[in-house]
Amino acid sequence: MSEQLKQKIFAAINEYCDANHNFGFDPKNPTIRLHEPTFSGEEINAFVDQMLSTKVTMGPEVRKFEEQYAREFGHKYGVMNNSGSSANLLAVAAIANPATTNSLKAGDEVIVPSLSWSTTVWPLIQSNLVPVFVDCDPKSFNFDLNKLEAAITPKTKAIMLVHVYGNPCDMDALMALAKKHNLQVIEDTCESMGAYYKGKAVGTFGRVATFSLYFSHHITTLEGGITVTDDFELAETMRIMRAHGWTREADEHAKYVAKYPDIDPRFIFVNLGYNLRATECQARMGQVQLPKLAKFVDQRRANVTTYFKNLSKYSDIFDFQHETPGSRSSWFGFSIVLKPNCPFSVKEISTFMKSHQIENRPIIAGNIALHPVMKLYEHKVAGDQSASTNIMKNGIAFGCHQAMDEVAVNYVCSKIDEFVKNYKK
Ligand SMILES: Cc1ncc(COP(=O)(O)O)c(C=O)c1O
Repeated sequence: MSEQLKQKIFAAINEYCDANHNFGFDPKNPTIRLHEPTFSGEEINAFVDQMLSTKVTMGPEVRKFEEQYAREFGHKYGVMNNSGSSANLLAVAAIANPATTNSLKAGDEVIVPSLSWSTTVWPLIQSNLVPVFVDCDPKSFNFDLNKLEAAITPKTKAIMLVHVYGNPCDMDALMALAKKHNLQVIEDTCESMGAYYKGKAVGTFGRVATFSLYFSHHITTLEGGITVTDDFELAETMRIMRAHGWTREADEHAKYVAKYPDIDPRFIFVNLGYNLRATECQARMGQVQLPKLAKFVDQRRANVTTYFKNLSKYSDIFDFQHETPGSRSSWFGFSIVLKPNCPFSVKEISTFMKSHQIENRPIIAGNIALHPVMKLYEHKVAGDQSASTNIMKNGIAFGCHQAMDEVAVNYVCSKIDEFVKNYKK
């Protein structure tokens, strides 16, 4: 009876979704959002199924998703948590934890791109590390590696990189620099899931990497994140720090139980911790979403090809983000940067596009070192930051997501054409 009822619920949800979830481009009501849902009936049913079971707090489904995710990209361990920001917090807190071999120490400098996201940087400050901002390369939007090397001091102990907008950093050169200067590498891969450098998935180069599963990302668990590593000790520390500092979810829980026989095995606290746990419902969604990632990325890449086909003619007034040679970007968005001779401002084109229901946004957070918050905390700005500042002032990003197609991209480009033509009159 209850199984029959459940199947009825699933069928009703599917019927609802089929009737209402039409996220593709509608020429009769042209609207281009920065993101459209990547999920529908299948994911909602997995989520609901888990809710109906009432087994909702972190457990075997989270573990299953972690293993599936790690297998997919060639990591040894995955630790699912409740956001990409939490993934960064957990990764940095674990790497700076006294239980960790070769841990980062208070006052150590960590090089981070100035063109990055707030919660790329905050965990460094929260772990008493000193962020050192390095400018980006205007073509790839990733670290300018000459400027990066110039920023290294005897206090520099790590690089926290971002593969900006899905475009992999030049990992051969970056890892060679890290090796030369004995620096640890943390990959903030939160906007680059599904991207590869020379056939190797991003997130597999550093000691630890982080992914976001937020609604607007390549795939989603609504909110969510996952940290990945090949370092067992670090994975264990992250499992412990994710949930209160207790040992319950550690692989070696039994080891702690044997070591501390006088403490109740359910509540053995061996480290500091947070509560960054994901739910079983999110994990069930993730399990359904992950096999769809490759197809979503293919669509993003096709959309970017269409953007370039239409907009390359404006290379006298626009710069674009270019894929790093040897890499396969997963294109989180499509960006244009107005050149100094461009006759209009970002605000003007942004307002025009918005008035035609084409959403757009700044490129990540722009130069994060220019945000007011940085006045409050110790940090260093290493040399010239003109490229990330220029991208902040003159850059704009549009959607290129899985629900768009050639017709949708052509529509966006036709509006850019209209704006440029009218402006030139
Ligand atoms: C580079 C980078 N790091 C971290 C995050 C944070 O991820 P979340 O929104 O899941 O907290 C984002 C979000 O887009 C991001 O782009």
